[in-house]
Amino acid sequence: MDVNRIIPKNIQELKAYVPGKTIEEVVREYNPKRISKLASNENRFGCSPKAIEKAQESFKVINNYPDATSYDLKQKLAERHQTDPDRIILGAGSESLIAMITRAFFAEGETALTASATFVGFLVSCRIKGISLKQVPVSDNYGFDLDLLADNLTDEVKVVYLANPNNPTGTYFTKSELDNFLSKVPSDVLVVLDEAYYEFADGYAPDYPDGLTYDHDNIIVLRTFSKAYGLAGFRIGYGFAHPDVITAMSKTKLVFEPSAPAQYAAMGAMEDQEFLGKSCDLVHTGRTRLYEILDRHRIPYAESYANAVMAIFDDEQTAQTFTENMLRHGVILRRLPGFGLPNCVRITVGLDDEIDHFAETLEKINR
Ligand SMILES: Cc1ncc(COP(=O)(O)O)c(C=O)c1O
Repeated sequence: MDVNRIIPKNIQELKAYVPGKTIEEVVREYNPKRISKLASNENRFGCSPKAIEKAQESFKVINNYPDATSYDLKQKLAERHQTDPDRIILGAGSESLIAMITRAFFAEGETALTASATFVGFLVSCRIKGISLKQVPVSDNYGFDLDLLADNLTDEVKVVYLANPNNPTGTYFTKSELDNFLSKVPSDVLVVLDEAYYEFADGYAPDYPDGLTYDHDNIIVLRTFSKAYGLAGFRIGYGFAHPDVITAMSKTKLVFEPSAPAQYAAMGAMEDQEFLGKSCDLVHTGRTRLYEILDRHRIPYAESYANAVMAIFDDEQTAQTFTENMLRHGVILRRLPGFGLPNCVRITVGLDDEIDHFAETLEKINR
């Protein structure tokens, strides 16, 4: 059987997502003395023991399906964010919520608008659904150009996707920029405000807009337990929107996501605000160290408000050589051609000794 005959063109043309290399892969290929995994914007500081403890409770009933409505967790999130549970939706990571949005609001061939260099998960979900994707260039400092996006809000655009802070650039846009943009968005266009890195920016980035303070029916705010809470392996993210938007998204949700351990872990994690604060502080000090190291080697970078710093090279070949040389010494970094930035490399903020490893390796390969 020629399987390609039954695969739709948009799926045939889809390039398989290439995640950052795993530790096992690097051991197999290079067997370096030491490994620092700085490729996937994970929380290098771990997660709260309270999350693990609570997740273990779910094992006692693991023979049962999880609560499809995530009732307890929704109550907890509603209380924390002073909103109604019917404005909240849970999914297996915010990536799954993005997929729900593309399933719920688009017929094939309809249009979404975003920037040229942003979270690849949105682009993949759009391509799977056969959505026509309109991407406008990022600004000179690699941020979302909200003026240019507003200029491109043509009649056919149904959804605008904004990540704040953005991945992979780490840049953010301010409240006044967002307010100005929203004033130009028609009320029947959905604005997806992906705040996966919210905790790293809130209180640190001047004039950073908290998406939850907006009372617009057409805004969907996405957050995740994967980053500051350190629960990426559990796969759990959450979204806030008007109840009608939530209802539409819920219809396209895989009924039993997120898993019971994920729901429990998230509730445990929310009990430990101390861990959250510590994890954000460590990212801030680590980021400053990365800036110092990159400055010392005269490698330009974009100022970041997420848990990674994007280094900028003259061309793709230089970025590729740099990443390979680092990898040979066990420092796993992320190249970004799939994100529209072939000359850039993303460095996740690591633990102190991982940053030491990064710095020592850079000295070695630049000698
Ligand atoms: C901007 C952005 N949104 C969403 C996600 C997906 O996160 P998760 O599915 O783990 O919640 C990521 C992951 O890197 C991201 O960078």
